[in-house]
Amino acid sequence: MLANKIHTRFLSAERAARMIMCQGLATSLERMANYLVEDYRRWPEFDKTPRIAAHSVDGVIELMPIADHRLYAFKYVNGHPKNHRLGLSTVMAFGVLADVESGAPTLISELTLTTALRTAAMSAVAARVLARPNCQRMALIGNGAQSEFQAMAFNRLLGIDEFHLFDTDPDATEKLQRNLTRMGLKTCRFDNTHEAVCGCDIVTTATADKTNATILLPDMIEAGMHINAIGGDCPGKTELHRDVLEMGKVFVEYEPQTRIEGELQQMPSEFPVVELWQLLTGQAGGRGGADEVTIFDSVGFALEDYSALRFMRDLAIELGVEEEIALIPDLSDPKNLFGLIAGGVRPVRGKLFTLSDEMGDLSHAA
Ligand SMILES: NC(=O)c1ccc[n+]([C@@H]2O[C@H](COP(=O)([O-])OP(=O)(O)OC[C@H]3O[C@@H](n4cnc5c(N)ncnc54)[C@H](O)[C@@H]3O)[C@@H](O)[C@H]2O)c1
Repeated sequence: MLANKIHTRFLSAERAARMIMCQGLATSLERMANYLVEDYRRWPEFDKTPRIAAHSVDGVIELMPIADHRLYAFKYVNGHPKNHRLGLSTVMAFGVLADVESGAPTLISELTLTTALRTAAMSAVAARVLARPNCQRMALIGNGAQSEFQAMAFNRLLGIDEFHLFDTDPDATEKLQRNLTRMGLKTCRFDNTHEAVCGCDIVTTATADKTNATILLPDMIEAGMHINAIGGDCPGKTELHRDVLEMGKVFVEYEPQTRIEGELQQMPSEFPVVELWQLLTGQAGGRGGADEVTIFDSVGFALEDYSALRFMRDLAIELGVEEEIALIPDLSDPKNLFGLIAGGVRPVRGKLFTLSDEMGDLSHAA
């Protein structure tokens, strides 16, 4: 048989994890951050749209497409805060990178682990330009799947080395404390959010609950704090009391999407925000002074997954990961798709189709 003309590289969850271990988590986060900044600086080149969401009682499933003139990317991702009861992750994802010129898919990859890395790298990229200089202490509210990656990214990109932890689930905090201690980071556990955020330069909220929660209240916010709010990312799912948004300057990834899904959904349509790309290209200013509160209302935008897929593709090439799947048929005559099943298609009792004898065992039950 001829080799397939379309080479679709495949990265399973296990393969992606091995690649990150091989590269090192801190280096991977730093490189991911560089890819993000590079792509965010090319913002006008991208064809952008808010993600397409299918809502249900307990969660949401979303498709996140984006393209420039060379590459098209999409991510499939869900958000089901009750999934832990079923032994499943709240957030699960996979994605595709395709060649715009031909439409050929060149990479299909897991994106559950990769999303945690890209979200953490994006949070740190935003904080690097928004938080006060020389930050040392960050509160992590919500100690689930994203939390270690957030801590590692802030440690690597901003030098944060002390983490205040709180989660309503003590086992989650126990797990986070164990993992961060193993990484050599200083941690301190607290009994509630109020105590955890006290005296922190940065507060990251990464909670999962399909409700308009008020994880951060106005009386918890201190002058000069940077708030990295990543858990409010869906209509009816927010983390900040609306008055917190009035206390500082709000920065977003892609305004049309954040108005629907972010903390911003609580605010009138004229509430002012700055898009991050403007900051990263020097077209807008960031923090006004040491006492100003800055808020990154993060929901996760398709461009971040484009960058993440690009990074994972390049890392796979560097590490010599060769695995491919034959996703697209290999046709000697592209107009003869039928030739794939040629040799006879005949209805038989109890079966809808049976293929030719030469094609053998590819029959479909009715
Ligand atoms: N902005 C982005 O780009 C982005 C990317 C990935 C995930 N997310 C969101 O981040 C959130 C966290 O994701 P995850 O994968 O870590 O989920 P997870 O379910 O693994 O962890 C969430 C944690 O929040 C805790 N929690 C819930 N309510 C709380 C409260 N009131 N106070 C303190 N802790 C509370 C839970 O006990 C749980 O341990 C989710 O809402 C997810 O949708 C956003």
